Amino acid sequence: MMTTSPKPPDDAPTEPRGGHSYPWIPIRSLLEADRPAVLMHLLALDERDRYLRFGHLATDEQVQHYVEGIDFARDEVFGVFNRRLELVAMAHLAYESAPRGAEACAEFGVSVASHLRGRKLGERLFAHAELHARNRGVHTLVVHALSENAPMLRIARQAGATVERHGAESQALVRLPPDNLASHVEALVGEGAAGLDYRIKREVRRVDRLLASIVGH
Ligand SMILES: CC(C)(COP(=O)(O)OP(=O)(O)OC[C@H]1O[C@@H](n2cnc3c(N)ncnc32)[C@H](O)[C@@H]1OP(=O)(O)O)[C@@H](O)C(=O)NCCC(=O)NCCS
Repeated sequence: MMTTSPKPPDDAPTEPRGGHSYPWIPIRSLLEADRPAVLMHLLALDERDRYLRFGHLATDEQVQHYVEGIDFARDEVFGVFNRRLELVAMAHLAYESAPRGAEACAEFGVSVASHLRGRKLGERLFAHAELHARNRGVHTLVVHALSENAPMLRIARQAGATVERHGAESQALVRLPPDNLASHVEALVGEGAAGLDYRIKREVRRVDRLLASIVGH
C-alpha cells in the first residue's frame, strides 16, 4: 500500500522528526520592523502565561508598554517563525550595563506559543541566547522566574544554572564560558541559515498569494 507523509501544519517552524522536538529550528534575530510581530505574539499569551512570563498578570496595555520599551539596538531579541510567518516563539536578552570592572550580565525572558510547547523551542532559544551573550562578553545569564515555573527552571537547570529560591520567585544564574572563534562562527552560521529560511518562507507565501489571486479570478 502506498502511503503519503502528512503535510506539516502551517504553524510548525519545521517538520518534527524523531519524536516531538525539531532537529533544527531557524532562530532569527529580530529587528525594529518585527516589533508588531512581537506584540502580537505576546498579546496572544493567555492570563496564566502572561503571569509566568512577566511575574504578574500583565494587561494588554502593560504588554504593549513592555514591547514599546524593547531596545533592539542595545538588547537582542530572537524569534522563531512558522510557515505563515507568524512569530511562534521569542526570547528577549536584555543586556545590563555593568559598572566599570564588574562582570557583565544579561537577563533572559522567553515565551513559546502554547500549542508548540514541549518541543524544545524554549530550550533551543535558551542555548541560542547563551551563545550570543557569550559572544558579547557576558559572564552570567540571569533568569527571573516564578518558583512554580517548572519548565523554565528546568531549562535553566539543564544549562547548569544555580537556582536561588526566594519564596514565590526564583533566580537562576548560568555562568557562561568565554567566547572563542567557534562560538562566533556558530552564531554567524545559525544567523545566516535562519535568515535564508525566513526569506524562503516569505517567497513561498508571495507565490502562494499570487497563485491564489490568479486562481481566484
Ligand atoms: C517556559 C516555556 C518558554 C518553555 O517552553 P517549551 O518550548 O515548552 O520548553 P521545552 O520544550 O524546551 O521544555 C523544557 C523542559 O521543561 C520540561 N517541562 C515542560 N513542562 C513541564 C512541567 N509542567 N513540569 C516540569 N517540567 C516541564 C520539559 O520536559 C523539558 O525538559 P526535558 O528537556 O528534560 O524534557 C513555555 O512554557 C512558555 O512560554 N511559558 C509561558 C511564559 C514563561 O513562563 N516564560 C518564562 C519566564 S521568563
